[in-house]
Amino acid sequence: MNKKEKKEKVAVIGCGKMGLALLSAISSSPEFITSGVEKDAKRATALRDKGHKVFKSVKELDETDVYVIAVKPQDMAGVLEELSIRQDVSESIVASIAAGIKIGYIRKYLKKSHIARLMPNTPALIGQGVTGIAFPSAGKKEKTLIEKIFRHTGETLFIEEGLMNALTAVSGSGPAYFFLMAEIMEKFALENGIEKEKAKSLISQTVAGSGLLMKEKMSDSDFTGLREDVTSPGGTTEAALNHLLENGFEKIFKEAMEKARDKF
Ligand SMILES: NC(=O)c1ccc[n+]([C@@H]2O[C@H](COP(=O)([O-])OP(=O)(O)OC[C@H]3O[C@@H](n4cnc5c(N)ncnc54)[C@H](OP(=O)(O)O)[C@@H]3O)[C@@H](O)[C@H]2O)c1
Repeated sequence: MNKKEKKEKVAVIGCGKMGLALLSAISSSPEFITSGVEKDAKRATALRDKGHKVFKSVKELDETDVYVIAVKPQDMAGVLEELSIRQDVSESIVASIAAGIKIGYIRKYLKKSHIARLMPNTPALIGQGVTGIAFPSAGKKEKTLIEKIFRHTGETLFIEEGLMNALTAVSGSGPAYFFLMAEIMEKFALENGIEKEKAKSLISQTVAGSGLLMKEKMSDSDFTGLREDVTSPGGTTEAALNHLLENGFEKIFKEAMEKARDKF
């Protein structure tokens, strides 16, 4: 970084599961001055012990360039009210990661700010997340800044706001679908006599390896091709997949994602 370049001040409001992941990732970069706001005293203390600057409320924050709001959707109104009375907010970017909260809703509280709606996912905790960003009011400068911040949590992509609920069902909730599958696979492994530690290694490396293979082959193969590569005619995988598909797996899984998409 050029020594003369200004360091952007980024505050994460709500440092629970996602906020903590974001704060940890963003604060690892020397490009930003970070702080957090967390109302849960225990969580706030744990964060301070890790060296983060953490306040009890939005009111106490220093001047900030980018506010990242990571509270539950039901806590948004309170945070937006607190933000709306801050002097610096009309010059700032306000980036919300709350599922289902529309930019139009935030705009009612913050008339002049640049408002972005984002959907990260929990692999952000290890810099391996993917974040969908809807930022219709942004110019190049604001888009570059928000992308620069969230690149520290993994990959980023811009998307129309109208597609955000569908993206949430795919990648926001997505890790949980794989974790549920891993839980079921672990139970099966244990019931079949495989030791817990061995089962965990087998499953986590199978998921991680499959993910890396998908990424590696993305340009020259599709997901169907990868599945077919594992599925020899008349073999074990085919027996399993036929059972899933003949019993409505695709239908029920799509319906589940519709539930996620339509939740808010
Ligand atoms: N978890 C995910 O995988 C995921 C993925 C993408 C997006 N999101 C979105 O991220 C947001 C946070 O989810 P989460 O799972 O991280 O929730 P969480 O663990 O409950 O974290 C939210 C934190 O914000 C605190 N908080 C509430 N109101 C506050 C305020 N006015 N000022 C400061 N802190 C406040 C909460 O404290 P209290 O507990 O004391 O209320 C809690 O510690 C949600 O809107 C969700 O839609 C989550």
